[in-house]
Amino acid sequence: MAAGVCAIDRFFVADRNMTENSKEKFRGLAHGEILLAGGMTVNIPASERFRMIRAKIDRYNLSHNNSLRFITVTSAVAQEGKSVVAVNLARALSFDRRGRTLIIDCDLRRPTVHKFFGLPLEPGLSNYLYEQRPLSEVIRNVHTRTDVISAGSLLSDPAQAVERPELLTLFNEVRKTYQYVIIDCPPVLLCPEPISLSLLSDKTLLVARAWKTERSLVADAVETIGKSRIFGVVMNDAEDTAKEYLDYGYYSSHQPQSNAVKKRKL
Ligand SMILES: Nc1ncnc2c1ncn2[C@@H]1O[C@H](COP(=O)(O)OP(=O)(O)OP(=O)(O)O)[C@@H](O)[C@H]1O
Ligand SMILES: [Mg+2]
Repeated sequence: MAAGVCAIDRFFVADRNMTENSKEKFRGLAHGEILLAGGMTVNIPASERFRMIRAKIDRYNLSHNNSLRFITVTSAVAQEGKSVVAVNLARALSFDRRGRTLIIDCDLRRPTVHKFFGLPLEPGLSNYLYEQRPLSEVIRNVHTRTDVISAGSLLSDPAQAVERPELLTLFNEVRKTYQYVIIDCPPVLLCPEPISLSLLSDKTLLVARAWKTERSLVADAVETIGKSRIFGVVMNDAEDTAKEYLDYGYYSSHQPQSNAVKKRKL
């Protein structure tokens, strides 16, 4: 049922050590589908959770003619874990033997994707967009079936960069080569880029730092992007959330859960 936080029907919990028990707690919280889906470390259980998001994407593709290949990752505000989720998801998707995965750092304000892979910031996206650097110079292979485009040289007007026709050329070009393209973005309530990038991609994943992000901000983000464009919400860093949730005793409350949820942050 399409209920729950912001009426989005797909929730993923990205967390390092989520237990089945705390999963149940989130299930009650969200009133919707919750999938343990993420880990911030490379240990096996964590990567398995990201593979579960991958399985969701695969299943969607099977029933939707392989139409979910370009995925924009954004959040309402800063520091919610967009880049962590984007990078981990790209790695999980690269295990799909049907094709390669590309992650593009479209956060030209606070680029971090290159750091995860120990790459230089440039040449990257902005150098392709403004200096006509060839794709072969800005795409770097980091793992089996995983390639990266770093953000590139910093710009005075990053919002303008994503409006350039060269970006469309790039997207059309990489669509021919990659099964999946993950686009890391700045926050949608603070910057205009995710709106344009969402329109150029197949779907958007919204990341929310569980319990720390105000529900109203996530609702604003959903509205700004458009619900139909959102594939799901990843509740990141949910382990602490579970503790906080229990500490405050919300499950011992006798008020209806829907009211409890309304009063809480995500
Ligand atoms: N689940 C998590 N567990 C522990 N640390 C996390 C988790 N998610 C994110 N972090 C840490 O929080 C910080 C912010 O994460 P990240 O850079 O992915 O956020 P962001 O939304 O991309 O930020 P920005 O808005 O600046 O681009 C980083 O230091 C990251 O390592
Ligand atoms: Mg980031």
